Amino acid sequence: MNFDSAIHSRDSLVRGARRIAALVLATVLVAGCGGGAGGGGEAAQDQVYLIKFPHVTAPGTPKGQAAQRFKELAEARFPGRVVVEVYPSSQLMNDDDSLEALAFGEIQMIAVSLSKFDRLTHSYQVFDLPFLFPSLEAVEAFQASPAGRATLTEIADRGFLGLAFWHNGMKQLSGPLPLQMPEDADGLKFRIMESDVLQAQVLQIGGSPQKMAYGEVYQALQTGAIDAQENTWSNIYSSKFYEVQPYITDSNHGYIGYLVAVNPQFWQSLPDDIRVGLEEVMADVTAWGNARSAEINQQARANIAESGRSEIIELSPEELAAWQEAMRPVWDQFSDDIGADLIDAAIASRP
Ligand code: LMR
Repeated sequence: MNFDSAIHSRDSLVRGARRIAALVLATVLVAGCGGGAGGGGEAAQDQVYLIKFPHVTAPGTPKGQAAQRFKELAEARFPGRVVVEVYPSSQLMNDDDSLEALAFGEIQMIAVSLSKFDRLTHSYQVFDLPFLFPSLEAVEAFQASPAGRATLTEIADRGFLGLAFWHNGMKQLSGPLPLQMPEDADGLKFRIMESDVLQAQVLQIGGSPQKMAYGEVYQALQTGAIDAQENTWSNIYSSKFYEVQPYITDSNHGYIGYLVAVNPQFWQSLPDDIRVGLEEVMADVTAWGNARSAEINQQARANIAESGRSEIIELSPEELAAWQEAMRPVWDQFSDDIGADLIDAAIASRP
């Protein structure tokens, strides 16, 4: 092991241990907190409540716009009492670190991709199953169903109280060559989010999956450390992946959406009027943001097409069926972990 990799593995160990400590701590705090009858109760009128809200995408993405709107509406509703600091583009930290920081109370709100909660629950793996959701409408119908709604607060007892699901959009594949058929992916190194389902999906098409933080993807593509990746149009555009990926396949094979979560202990400690008011603001922002996400992604697609930097590959019905067939075994692989009932509920809520 060379010096760099020794340092890297030591850092990973330290970070891993810290993360486990954070999750244990969060669980203990949540258990000890018990929600408190009536919530936060009395607080000095001049106390200012600061919500630090870091995320990894650019300000113009669906998440970037929704986070900014949450800030504006929350501060307008509680002038001088609530301050929301939004840190976009991995400025403050990456997603993995934000899970830990929320548990430690260093930040107060996150909107992390559902794919990245693998360690905390298997339920959200349903959102990663390839071709399960034909559209954002299908995702939305599932999230609004009783089974989908129940997953929102499922990890509250582990330190992550879900307030909302926010959409980004449907994922596309990009690479150094036209990914027209699954065989074209053979041997390519694909960057994926930290998800075992996505790892299985890439293996299924003969690729080599590499889990990597979002903020490192552009450089890894540029230097050839990875060959390919999957993401939404808005992420591919705003993070300039299209400048270093000559081909993007319009595959819509999966979904990226977020759990907007807070630390339950922090949330319960807020005065009742503020907590309830912020939940109303969150509901408004969620409806506003989710209604715009498809349009933001379509605009990003149009911008990429116009740039001429990347060729957009369309799939014929037969080619699309070949991708669906190639990736489909992943469903069976993860059906027990996720729960067949949840997968069935997702299928049943297709519009
Ligand atoms: C990714 O890591 O590709 C996404 O989770 C980024 C995001 O937050 O949309």
